[in-house]
Amino acid sequence: MTVIVLVGAQWGDEGKGKVSSYFARDVDIVARYSGGNNAGHTVVVEGKKFKLHLIPAGIFYPKTLALLGSGMVIDPEALLEEISELQSAGYPCNNLRISPLAHVVLSYHREIDALLEKNRGKNALGTTKKGIGPAYADKAERIGIRIGDLLDEDLFKEKVNFNIEVKKSRFSSLNGVLDAAKLLEKQKIYLAKLSPFIVDTFKIIRGALKEGKKILCEGAQGMMLDLDFGTYPYVTSSGTTAGAVATGLGIPPREIKEVIGVVKAYTTRVGEGNFPTEETGEIGAFLRERGHEYGTTTARPRRCGWLDGMVLKYGAQINGYSSLVITKLDVLTGLKEIKFCEAYRYKGEVLFDFPIDMKVFSSVQPVYRTFPGWEKDISEAKKIADLPKSCRDYLSYVEEYIQVPIKLISIGADRDQVILP
Ligand code: IMP
Repeated sequence: MTVIVLVGAQWGDEGKGKVSSYFARDVDIVARYSGGNNAGHTVVVEGKKFKLHLIPAGIFYPKTLALLGSGMVIDPEALLEEISELQSAGYPCNNLRISPLAHVVLSYHREIDALLEKNRGKNALGTTKKGIGPAYADKAERIGIRIGDLLDEDLFKEKVNFNIEVKKSRFSSLNGVLDAAKLLEKQKIYLAKLSPFIVDTFKIIRGALKEGKKILCEGAQGMMLDLDFGTYPYVTSSGTTAGAVATGLGIPPREIKEVIGVVKAYTTRVGEGNFPTEETGEIGAFLRERGHEYGTTTARPRRCGWLDGMVLKYGAQINGYSSLVITKLDVLTGLKEIKFCEAYRYKGEVLFDFPIDMKVFSSVQPVYRTFPGWEKDISEAKKIADLPKSCRDYLSYVEEYIQVPIKLISIGADRDQVILP
């Protein structure tokens, strides 16, 4: 029995796609457990770049199942696009499995997402406008439409008609926009194209656990965007921590053997919300350009800054990381000095624990430890000894500070550009 969980240890975009594709070749199932196409995983396979939003990295290995779990919200339109892109690149997607219990994101969810953002004015959250929040809201309100409902034309029709009426009564400006007939037409396409992939994924998971197969649970977003423990309200609408594996896939918590925290060597954030280590000047621009920090989903420039140890420690407490993967270490090459936030200052007091009170968090200042940088190109390093001493010292400090060992270091976009310490 081996269940491995990958969790983004910051605000998303830690490079989980690459890490997932690295581990995927040795597992039987790669499963997504939450979120939707608000996620964007860039994976480079044999020199070709893929931008995946819904399908986990297992799709590149025909013997590995790529499973979309019940905790997800799935936009069939986006999913069909992704399948077709993979198929034209020579990946037939016969190994794709979709849970009938996952919820469907439809055009009205995207409309409502955009409308709510507009209405929030200066308090906008900076969502991806993919309809994620409204789809999860429907799920919680118990009026959501599930993937399994796509298989039953009459049921789908009934649910769509009901939802359109509800939405129209709540959002008068959407009256002329929402069109049930169009959605019902599309259902036929979804049914024809997606039904081969819709199966009882819980049964697959149960069987895999029983047979001692390896399951890699691919996290989306980052733990600081978690609906409960993230920087609310500047979060996504789902669980992004290791805990969400249990509810999003039906895997009993005690089956989880490893929780890997994926840590980018610096921090980025898209959307609004406080970001204590943000660098808005030269350093931020350096990280953005060198790290290609532009959203995979929305192309928005990402806010960039130093690594925040307080966030990592908090993530370790919530997720119980058994190891860390450090990504994009090569991006730091060339910086004269590198800063690491090891505490926060709040009204003259030094905090060593992450403040769960968002009023406090919104006005903390970082307390930094500064390390010398390095000039040597590290993108071809094969072992830890190939890294400059200042780089090794920085990594050792991170490990010691979080009290979690580093399992893998990524030094370039290609799946195999990694160092095993
Ligand atoms: P939503 O998930 O589209 O509702 O967006 C809510 C917040 O989460 C916004 O700040 C988004 O930028 C952020 N977000 C959602 N998905 C991702 C992701 O995959 N990476 C980084 N940020 C994300």
